[in-house]
Amino acid sequence: MAPHDAVHGWDEDTTAEAYDAFTREFPMYSATSRELARRAHLADSRLVLDLCGGAGATAKPILELAPATARVISLDNAAAMQRVGRRTLDDPRLTWVTAAAEDLDRHAPAADVDAVVCNSAIWKTDIPRVFTAVHTVLRPGGRFVFNIGGGFAGVRHDDEKSAHTGPSLNRLIHDVAARDYGYTPPPTRPAAPKLPLEAVSAHLSAAGLVLVDAEVIAQHGSVAEKRAWLSIPVFARPDGDFTHAQRMDILAKAYALTTPDAPTVTSWLTVVAQRPK
Ligand SMILES: C[S@@+](CC[C@H](N)C(=O)[O-])C[C@H]1O[C@@H](n2cnc3c(N)ncnc32)[C@H](O)[C@@H]1O
Repeated sequence: MAPHDAVHGWDEDTTAEAYDAFTREFPMYSATSRELARRAHLADSRLVLDLCGGAGATAKPILELAPATARVISLDNAAAMQRVGRRTLDDPRLTWVTAAAEDLDRHAPAADVDAVVCNSAIWKTDIPRVFTAVHTVLRPGGRFVFNIGGGFAGVRHDDEKSAHTGPSLNRLIHDVAARDYGYTPPPTRPAAPKLPLEAVSAHLSAAGLVLVDAEVIAQHGSVAEKRAWLSIPVFARPDGDFTHAQRMDILAKAYALTTPDAPTVTSWLTVVAQRPK
């Protein structure tokens, strides 16, 4: 079965519009994007690739930090996301390319890209193919900056470990779905992380890239933000045979059991790699 955020879900107008509205109201994607753009050292860049750029939340800080003469390519395979981006982010330096991340070397010149930045998406791609293609397009010394959700990387920031806010919204969603819809939650046994740093390092060196820095960072938010995020169709839960309306009913009931202002902490593994000079 496809994962609930399988890529086909991104190419839908309802998801694209909801995602864009979320990024405007809450800082999660703009803050993580800014953090990556900062680490890409764009001050002297001429060409930057925003990989899996979606509706442009990452392109925005790239454009702000890159020189006025720089060009930015935002590549994503969801046309619906890019339709929203084209409408809301109008900058002549930015080119939208609808293509798979795995094919990025067909859409950027070889050895000429100063930085590739990828916010909140790399674990959804075919990592060996993407890393090899990144190596092809980066100039010697060029930077590859991306992040991995803490659950996928198997990391937790100290702030997340010390934050205790009672049952998570995800837990409550499962409880409500079980109570009202006869849902059987998956076993709570933690899954092995899909993309730990050791695997990232191995994939980077197999592609000829060098790991420069890896840091676990904390993203501070609230239960209200988490609720808004879980309202985006591609992220709505639980998995299984539910309509979106049913998922939203479950979410509303679960949310009613929380303290909306309670702080939440999300961990990210932020990685900087480089093509050797
Ligand atoms: C969470 S969004 C992040 C978008 C943007 N970087 C941001 O921070 O707002 C994930 C994006 O990855 C894209 N994506 C996932 N897998 C992809 C692939 N293999 N090739 C191209 N885009 C992909 C989706 O279409 C979606 O727009």
